[in-house]
Amino acid sequence: MRILVTGGCGFIGSHVCEYYINKGAQVIAFDNMTKHELSRTGYSADAARDYTINFLKKSGVDFFEGDICNSDELNKAARDCDYIVHTAAQPAMTISIEAPNLDFNTNLVGTFNVLETARKFDIPIVSCATIHVYGNKINETLKEADTRYIRNPPTINEDHPTAEGIITPLHASKSCGDLYIKAYVDTYGLEAASYRLTGLYGPRQFGGEDHGWVANFTIRNLLEKPITIYGTGKQVRDILFASDVVEAFHAFYKARKPGIYNIGGGIDHSISLIECIQTIEKITGKKSNIQYSEGRLGDLLYFVCDTTKAEENLGWKPKTPPEKGISLLAAWVKDNITLFRG
Ligand SMILES: NC(=O)c1ccc[n+]([C@@H]2O[C@H](COP(=O)([O-])OP(=O)(O)OC[C@H]3O[C@@H](n4cnc5c(N)ncnc54)[C@H](O)[C@@H]3O)[C@@H](O)[C@H]2O)c1
Repeated sequence: MRILVTGGCGFIGSHVCEYYINKGAQVIAFDNMTKHELSRTGYSADAARDYTINFLKKSGVDFFEGDICNSDELNKAARDCDYIVHTAAQPAMTISIEAPNLDFNTNLVGTFNVLETARKFDIPIVSCATIHVYGNKINETLKEADTRYIRNPPTINEDHPTAEGIITPLHASKSCGDLYIKAYVDTYGLEAASYRLTGLYGPRQFGGEDHGWVANFTIRNLLEKPITIYGTGKQVRDILFASDVVEAFHAFYKARKPGIYNIGGGIDHSISLIECIQTIEKITGKKSNIQYSEGRLGDLLYFVCDTTKAEENLGWKPKTPPEKGISLLAAWVKDNITLFRG
């Protein structure tokens, strides 16, 4: 089996590579090694990049330095592949507002190119969308409890209207990518799935204020650096641990039931920002220094996936409870704390 992982040197992409290498597959990590987002985290983008690439090379993953905006490079890397896992993206709402061009090219043009490559060679593909495709009108349906927003019904399925509320360039680019997957399924019969992913977390996540909040909070707690919460801190996500995400990708490879899927932890794995910090403090034994700032444009205050469709069609279910996943993440940050200093 030969797998192409776009964004293979990123957080989730590196877990996909590790998973398939451990299954004995030949794995190609296709990545342009951008430092745009990492350079904003406050720690060394070079050290973070070196860490992941060394991990992948040691594991036996083949590295192809290329850009999803370049079809020739993609076609070269994808030839003879059995599966494409498309994780490469500009993933941050904040960056999409500052650099809409980068966001458009990466998420829209890039995703289109990856899809075209999949069509050309008839390769099944799973692509990463996000729960942000739903927009944020959901914010108007919430009640505020002590430590979190609540909603009735608590979970949201794929039939919920999309792109409602205040829309940023990230909403637009990720929604278009998601829609294009459906177009290629409907029009060309491509074996493709778009995963509307919730907040993801785990080892090798170099989180910062733009993206990867569970890791950002954990890293800052362990470094004893202040944590900024934008808004009330009662924002809720059904966070999903890296190994569960990777199993969801493989579930599509096995089941081949094309379409759109909500992929998240469900109500049992839901947690608010405040609750997440409390959990981190319990695990590390360190108190966090929290400061509050105004809510950010486009923020979605609540999302918990109804994962019934993925369970029924793909036989996939989230497994890792937040306490366990955050312990594993904290252990990794602790073991690699020097990466995050300076
Ligand atoms: N992490 C989360 O909480 C989360 C939540 C919802 C959805 N997602 C989606 O999951 C996917 C993976 O997210 P992640 O957290 O692993 O992101 P990440 O930033 O860690 O990894 C993305 C990788 O893509 C690469 N990349 C960016 N532009 C590229 C280009 N033009 N050509 C080739 N490679 C390029 C980057 O170098 C990086 O290695 C993304 O599509 C993201 O939108 C993530």
